Amino acid sequence: MESAITESGTDINRAAMLLLDDALVAIPTETVYGLAGNAFSPSAVTRIFQTKNRPVFDPLIVHTHSLEEIRGFVTVIPPVVERLIEEFSPGPLTVLLPRNHKIPDLVTSGLPLVAVRIPRHPMTLELLRALPFPLAAPSANPFGYISPTTARHVLDQLGGKIPYVLDGGSCEVGVESTIVGFNGSRCEIYREGGISQEQLMAICGPLGKVYQSSSSPSAPGMLLSHYAPRKTLYLGNLDALLERFKGVPVGVLSYDTPVQAPNILASAVLSPEGDLSAAAQRLFACLRDLDQSRAQVLLAESVPDQGLGRAINDRLQRAAIKEA
Ligand code: TXA
Ligand code: MG
Repeated sequence: MESAITESGTDINRAAMLLLDDALVAIPTETVYGLAGNAFSPSAVTRIFQTKNRPVFDPLIVHTHSLEEIRGFVTVIPPVVERLIEEFSPGPLTVLLPRNHKIPDLVTSGLPLVAVRIPRHPMTLELLRALPFPLAAPSANPFGYISPTTARHVLDQLGGKIPYVLDGGSCEVGVESTIVGFNGSRCEIYREGGISQEQLMAICGPLGKVYQSSSSPSAPGMLLSHYAPRKTLYLGNLDALLERFKGVPVGVLSYDTPVQAPNILASAVLSPEGDLSAAAQRLFACLRDLDQSRAQVLLAESVPDQGLGRAINDRLQRAAIKEA
């Protein structure tokens, strides 16, 4: 179902009415914007997959306002998960829990576990409290492209396809939530994100497996190529890359230090102060700007591999071309 005009604004009531009517609405969260629909409605969930061109083997995250609401659609919440939720929610944490009959198969791509999170954005929390159901919401971008961190980003790509974008400003965290599963009482990381390994370990002790990106859909959420700009992006040492692409019009993304060369058409520095939170917040907007520049190829460097830096590096690796 296409909507000729997509409006954006701050009308939470309007967003609620549309969602009650089984329509889709883009919502702000502290991580990235989501494309939301009633998680209990197979028709709304089907429309989410269609609107994003998302393959049905890639399951969705269910957004809710409280632990109480979660209890209504899962069979059990193990103590370690309850501790994590208490510590990090609302916030950029997603946990995997066994679902009950209320969650349609489509939401989890048939898997027995459902991904759940309580987002921290005040407008979306108010919206969730006003609704009698939780919201299934993937990031509000066409499948495989860079996630949106402003209402403008959503309009640029989904304009004409959904009736409303709830505009909550720029996302505060800027990278998606950390997805955590459990093997016995051990936490396993399915996707690095806004909660760091260090923060998780402080609550649940040593981590089990940390799944790496793969091209196999049997490791959900971990597609090797994802979060990708349309231009080819090379990740590595910037001096070496600039030497290699001498004379080619390039766009450059650096961590804390600007680089100079005559063939640089566009450039962005993630955080001149070397602050990983600030870098995460700006990452996707910088990638979008560079993608829209007149550069032919994009060059980027990794950031320090600690704290939020791991999530940033994960997104850069998945955005980059894989060379043998
Ligand atoms: O920060 C976020 O998590 C954002 C905002 C909108 O909440 N959402 C988001 O959704 O990033 P999406 O759909 O772009 O990514 C969710 C990932 C998917 O790649 C999916 O494979 C994984 O979560 N996932 C969902 N359910 C899962 C499950 N039952 N088991 C394993 N992975 C799952
Ligand atoms: Mg996504």
